[in-house]
Amino acid sequence: MEAFAETWLRLREPYDHAARSAPLARRFLAALPALPCVLDLAAGAGSNVRYLASLGMHPANWVLADADRTLLASADVGTARVERWAVDLARPDLGLDLSRIDGVTAAAFGDLVSAAWLARFARRVARRRLPVFMALSVDGRAMWTPEDADDLLVQRLFRRDQSRDKGFGPALGGGAPWRLASLFRGYGYRVHMGCSDWRIGPQDRTMHDRMIDGFAAAATAAAPEARNTIAGWSDRRRAQAADGLLRLSVGHRDCLALPPLGSSLR
Ligand SMILES: C[S@@+](CC[C@H](N)C(=O)[O-])C[C@H]1O[C@@H](n2cnc3c(N)ncnc32)[C@H](O)[C@@H]1O
Repeated sequence: MEAFAETWLRLREPYDHAARSAPLARRFLAALPALPCVLDLAAGAGSNVRYLASLGMHPANWVLADADRTLLASADVGTARVERWAVDLARPDLGLDLSRIDGVTAAAFGDLVSAAWLARFARRVARRRLPVFMALSVDGRAMWTPEDADDLLVQRLFRRDQSRDKGFGPALGGGAPWRLASLFRGYGYRVHMGCSDWRIGPQDRTMHDRMIDGFAAAATAAAPEARNTIAGWSDRRRAQAADGLLRLSVGHRDCLALPPLGSSLR
């Protein structure tokens, strides 16, 4: 299992929430029955539930599923009713009992899993005709302003890291949104996509430093022979961040899949 520090999840939360497609989130909530039981996969410290609950939805029972018990225990979701399931989602049966579940959501998770895992997941939820809302999957884009001659190199190596196995088999990385869409369309679902790009502005020094370090570490791990070039890129980017001159947009997609109307699934 890939571990995620709570400090990182807290740092990214405002960027996640600002980026998300509120219209798609509302359509997901509208597709649920009254007093639904909603499963948040890989819920971490509860950011996805905080976002969805902030949209003013009707009362719901939330099931937060994650393998990291410490993150789960730290999830503060205000007055929302929650159950916490400590579960390894990489198990062949996904470790999930969907019998009481009315809808499934996840945030910042779709790009961590493999094509085979996603196919198993889609089969399970489509059999039960559940609405699915997978927010904030990376789509492979990163746009730095100003540009740097080594952006393309760093970005190419970073993408290689995004497809590293995170415990579910080779990760889909930037291919996740399209794989999700085509799998659910194959089950007759209506699929809607929205852009949910992170926008990191000139004043966001802490986030910039975290992103620069993350890109540089992943790129160096992928190509140790390019270490000096990557270190030069990192130094230039850190200096621009310190001077308040740097902007970064990181491509993400929200994907809403609504079950087919009528009685039979394809
Ligand atoms: C990028 S974080 C996203 C957390 C949360 N959804 C959010 O938006 O802040 C990915 C989450 O996947 C969880 N995770 C990774 N591998 C897992 C596995 N095999 N089973 C269950 N959860 C897992 C991590 O513990 C982490 O909470």
